[in-house]
Amino acid sequence: MFDLTGRLALVTGAGQGVGAGAAHCLASQGATVLVNDIVDERAERVAVSIRSAGGLADALAFDVTRREEVCDLLASHPLDIVVNNAGNAGATVMQPRPFRDMGPAEWEAPIDVNLRGVMHTTHAALPGMVDRGFGRLITVSSGAGVVGLGIGVAPYGAGKGGAISFMRHMAIENAALGVTANSVALGMMEMTEVHDASLVEKLASTVPCGRLGTGEDLGPAVVWLASDEASWVTGQTIHVNGGSVTS
Ligand SMILES: NC(=O)c1ccc[n+]([C@@H]2O[C@H](COP(=O)([O-])OP(=O)(O)OC[C@H]3O[C@@H](n4cnc5c(N)ncnc54)[C@H](O)[C@@H]3O)[C@@H](O)[C@H]2O)c1
Repeated sequence: MFDLTGRLALVTGAGQGVGAGAAHCLASQGATVLVNDIVDERAERVAVSIRSAGGLADALAFDVTRREEVCDLLASHPLDIVVNNAGNAGATVMQPRPFRDMGPAEWEAPIDVNLRGVMHTTHAALPGMVDRGFGRLITVSSGAGVVGLGIGVAPYGAGKGGAISFMRHMAIENAALGVTANSVALGMMEMTEVHDASLVEKLASTVPCGRLGTGEDLGPAVVWLASDEASWVTGQTIHVNGGSVTS
């Protein structure tokens, strides 16, 4: 079950964080993984570690927000699986604050990476998937794309919620063509750079399961959605969040 041998998968923003975990998990099920990141060395490092573990992987650096770059680089890759994981505030750092205090420049980055980036990779990969009669579009979203939060991340939530909605439309447009489209809405995950251990402990205590999530929690959900066995699962948002309330 869930054998991905012979499948070609792209995971965006997989040079670190939970995307790297998802890339490892896909490779461990037999997929060949294109490890994308905007930072070349990060993509390369993860591809090397997948190969060291016996998997098949190559680095493919590009910026998901640059449509022409995405289309040019993906044109020669017959993708079966696209995991849209690049997110947060893209190449910038998220600066949470109330929306009423923000200017338009501050919502460009989160909308660009979390919504437009997903549309760019989908637009590049989808025609080939339809031609071959198989495709799996999986977008890594967030609880912030499903419920309102008072922590100053409205543009991020808008990008994440927009991408969930976009996946639902892709699901219906392509349901009879062998292509599924789903989202995974994550809860609080471990951060790559931890500066404050007591903050992590405090955040973890708010998660019913008592810990923050990891790439090893995301990976199996992605593998399932990418598999042949999940052909009847489309247009869904799967919550992987340690039991946090999302409605
Ligand atoms: N960390 C969390 O608590 C959390 C919670 C909910 C959802 N998410 C979502 O999970 C995904 C991964 O989050 P993370 O915290 O592991 O990420 P991260 O910030 O640790 O890593 C993301 C990677 O994406 C790369 N990247 C950024 N912009 C890019 C672009 N334009 N093109 C290609 N690559 C780009 C970065 O260089 C980085 O290596 C994101 O979509 C995020 O929004 C994270």
